[in-house]
Amino acid sequence: MALILGLESSCDETAAALVESDGTIRAHKLARQDAAHRPYGGVVPEIAARAHVEVLGPLVEAALEEAGVTLDQVDAIAATAGPGLIGGVMVGLVTGKALALAAGKPLIAVNHLEGHGLSPRLTDRDLAFPYLLLLVSGGHCQLLLVEGVGQYRRLATTIDDAAGEAFDKTAKILGLGFPGGPAVEAAAAKGNPKAVALPRPLLGSGEPHFSFAGLKSAVARVVGQYSPEDIAASFQQAVVDCLVDRTRIALAKVRPTALVVAGGVAANTAVRAALESLAADHDLAFVAPPLWLCTDNAAMIAWAGVERHAAGLFDSLDVPARPRWPL
Ligand code: KG4
Ligand code: ZN
Repeated sequence: MALILGLESSCDETAAALVESDGTIRAHKLARQDAAHRPYGGVVPEIAARAHVEVLGPLVEAALEEAGVTLDQVDAIAATAGPGLIGGVMVGLVTGKALALAAGKPLIAVNHLEGHGLSPRLTDRDLAFPYLLLLVSGGHCQLLLVEGVGQYRRLATTIDDAAGEAFDKTAKILGLGFPGGPAVEAAAAKGNPKAVALPRPLLGSGEPHFSFAGLKSAVARVVGQYSPEDIAASFQQAVVDCLVDRTRIALAKVRPTALVVAGGVAANTAVRAALESLAADHDLAFVAPPLWLCTDNAAMIAWAGVERHAAGLFDSLDVPARPRWPL
């Protein structure tokens, strides 16, 4: 049994977790920065990096204390090394390197997207490769065939905005506040998804790529003509329709064991429900991590560390931070 310390600081969540190789989460400590960024309507990289510096050390200590272990009892340290905001990634990676050096433990540099992508196996231990992963977060919108640890076949990506970015921009346009995804979802619950005719970019096209910029612009054009609730509901329905249609196209090209959704937008109930019924139509298992594991956290980074540790994949202490790092 291995015990892995995971560190996450690539965007606006700072987190530390201790996870065992059987999937037991011994501790998870997370600090959000929403309040610090809210006045600006989005994440301010410099503010984020400073906040990570302040809280990451204490979070690591708190996680070790909660698990009742010392650094000596940890088998490896896994830190997000990208992609993300360079200042934040540096804080987590340098902290991971320092702890690894001080305690004489191996370092595992984790791709944040791999963290999201493997997280469903933390809570669903029977999930076998290859699975079709719809990775929908603030910065990414991809369909990947996950064939193994470190083996990802990208089937599709977004040609402009990510799905989460579309939620965030729509929230801003509608004045619903920050962070946008949960705010749009809450407003949508009170609106009519058929009230506003909005475009479904790329719907029906033969390759499963995504596009959301046109949808966002369409939202901007109808502001004031309908209630924010009706616009939010119609927008959310358009996103759901696009995600389902694009995933259906991908499902025609591969033979996965399951349909899996991960990333912050996977926390959206309408998105989950629509994908679940798409999977059922294809007689496929549907796997979505619990809501808290969908948005950024350190348990998924520690878990990616568990998987890499088991595969003997370690990194040297001079591994660089990579603000851009495609899977
Ligand atoms: O994975 P994540 O926490 O950070 C990134 O790696 O990007 O994803 C954050 C994104 C944001 O765009 C946020 O608005 C979106 O996920 N999000 C949601 C919901 N919760 C978070 N989008 C739609 N509905 C939600 N409930
Ligand atoms: Zn993320």
